[in-house]
Amino acid sequence: MRTVALPSGEQVPCLGQGTWYMGERSGSAKTEADALRLGIDLGMTLIDTAEMYADGGAEQVVAQAAAGQRDKLFIVSKVYPHNASRTGVPAACARSLKRLNTDRIDLYLLHWRGGHPLAETVAAFEQLRVEGKIRHWGVSNLDTADMAELAGVPNGRKCVANQVLYHPNSRGIEFDLLPWCDRLGVPVMAYSPLSHSPARLLRSPALTTVAKRHGATAAQIALAWGMRHGHVISIPKASNAAHVRENAGAADIVLTAEDLAAIDALHKPPTRKVALDLL
Ligand SMILES: NC(=O)c1ccc[n+]([C@@H]2O[C@H](COP(=O)([O-])OP(=O)(O)OC[C@H]3O[C@@H](n4cnc5c(N)ncnc54)[C@H](OP(=O)(O)O)[C@@H]3O)[C@@H](O)[C@H]2O)c1
Repeated sequence: MRTVALPSGEQVPCLGQGTWYMGERSGSAKTEADALRLGIDLGMTLIDTAEMYADGGAEQVVAQAAAGQRDKLFIVSKVYPHNASRTGVPAACARSLKRLNTDRIDLYLLHWRGGHPLAETVAAFEQLRVEGKIRHWGVSNLDTADMAELAGVPNGRKCVANQVLYHPNSRGIEFDLLPWCDRLGVPVMAYSPLSHSPARLLRSPALTTVAKRHGATAAQIALAWGMRHGHVISIPKASNAAHVRENAGAADIVLTAEDLAAIDALHKPPTRKVALDLL
């Protein structure tokens, strides 16, 4: 599995696994944990979750998948904006650690920007990092102006990732956010890389044509497309074992200039600043 370097030099896989909507029903938890375990076996050892997902249920599914192999994993979780205060962050982190059944979160993200000042959230993150409860911290759903503001608060430059929506039908970040993160050496984590409800995206004639050339599927091409930047980490979610296998195969696909031009023709790159797209 190709890796992406965090600002510290630590390498993480360019392809991980999402968990949104896992843990919603206890009857599905085993299947979901099995899917994550299969993905881990195939090299997708970065797992993205959040306190929000199934009210902590997804973190419990991650704990099930991680049993006996925690040290192989790079676990990402997120704090709700309403918990992102100086006292709220450590309390939320303690609850997440308990549900994840671990002593540390590898990367802890502010899920989106809320009412608490960034400086306060960063101070709380730094305290957790010093205590060893988290190894790194970052943000999610922050546009360029928010990232610039973050870089200006004490320790704000210690942010190691920005997780944002990115797929062929949502390319706004290419105009300024992606270049900005690139310049500062902050990796971007592409969420909903299959567009969350992939039926329409996967019928794209551009993706299906390129897929034929590679003997691949449209989903694999969409994922490979997101990961073509050396500093983008893709985190598709799949509960279905066939999807997990298919997604893992995307890591080996290298798109040609001809492939990228075919995708650009139908999924246009941005020509001006557009506000950050969110789910
Ligand atoms: N930071 C944020 O605000 C934020 C927002 C959204 C998402 N996220 C993170 O990003 C992760 C991924 O995003 P997402 O869950 O919204 O959407 P996604 O990964 O774009 O799409 C997930 C959907 O695609 C299906 N799928 C997976 N692999 C497939 C394949 N090879 N072929 C066809 N369908 C396939 C899945 O079905 P099955 O499950 O049935 O396999 C599921 O229905 C989330 O799970 C979450 O961890 C973060």
